[in-house]
Amino acid sequence: MTKIIAISGKGGTGKTMFSTLLVKALSKKTHNMLVVDADPDSNLPETLGVEVELTIGDIREELKQLVADDKLPAGISKQDYLLGKIYEIIVETENFDLLVMGRPEGSGCYCSVNNWLRQIIDNLAKSYDYVIIDTEAGLEHLSRRTTQNVDTMIVVSDASKRGLGTAKRIKKLANELEIKFKEIYVVANKVNDENKDMVEKNAKELGLNLIGKLPYNEEISKYDLIGKPLFDIDENNEVYKKVEEIAKSL
Ligand SMILES: Nc1ncnc2c1ncn2[C@@H]1O[C@H](COP(=O)(O)OP(=O)(O)OP(=O)(O)O)[C@@H](O)[C@H]1O
Ligand SMILES: [Mg+2]
Repeated sequence: MTKIIAISGKGGTGKTMFSTLLVKALSKKTHNMLVVDADPDSNLPETLGVEVELTIGDIREELKQLVADDKLPAGISKQDYLLGKIYEIIVETENFDLLVMGRPEGSGCYCSVNNWLRQIIDNLAKSYDYVIIDTEAGLEHLSRRTTQNVDTMIVVSDASKRGLGTAKRIKKLANELEIKFKEIYVVANKVNDENKDMVEKNAKELGLNLIGKLPYNEEISKYDLIGKPLFDIDENNEVYKKVEEIAKSL
């Protein structure tokens, strides 16, 4: 059975950091994992240390152009074309496969193309043990429903009550949109000794299921600063250790 885990939260809370360390931790269990970068503005390939040339957004544009120029090879349906291209752009590494969504659909309707893409990706997902999706900041992806069929939603929050409030809103919006997650969890990031009790109290008051508190860690911010892939961080790193604990329960 495939388990689909999406990481969401406000901008800059640590979604990409958490996604990267989660992929690292889960890669100890299985290499049959698809990582999806669903943030058009993301740096997940960099933090994972993978080079990606083409995105789903690129092949959507390519298809549009081929159709406009009437250059789609004879005998190939648009669906077949997309399927073939998706296999081409997935980057396979020894620990996981990576698919980057790239820019979202622009103006003008490629509704059918988007529906086919979604179907192809949904189908593809079924062949993996885990699918990990790093989503864009905010709640739009929920209302646009690009995050479908998710089993576990993990909201990364800063330690503030307002930050945790966003997690609460994501939970509420998901209910309103009738998006069924089997589980919704919160991970509080950059928690320190002074605020950790407060974080717990706030999460409890808001009815949130807090599955982890990650400390601020100098080494993590250094990796980002010098552009070193966070995936390669030492396994004794305190934040990684905590993410490893979380991964065990997923
Ligand atoms: N626990 C931590 N300790 C130190 N630095 C951290 C920690 N978590 C995240 N950071 C740093 O905070 C910054 C934001 O983290 P990250 O890019 O993961 O956030 P994000 O939620 O993905 O942001 P965006 O919304 O822009 O995609 C990065 O520079 C990252 O290295
Ligand atoms: Mg990010």
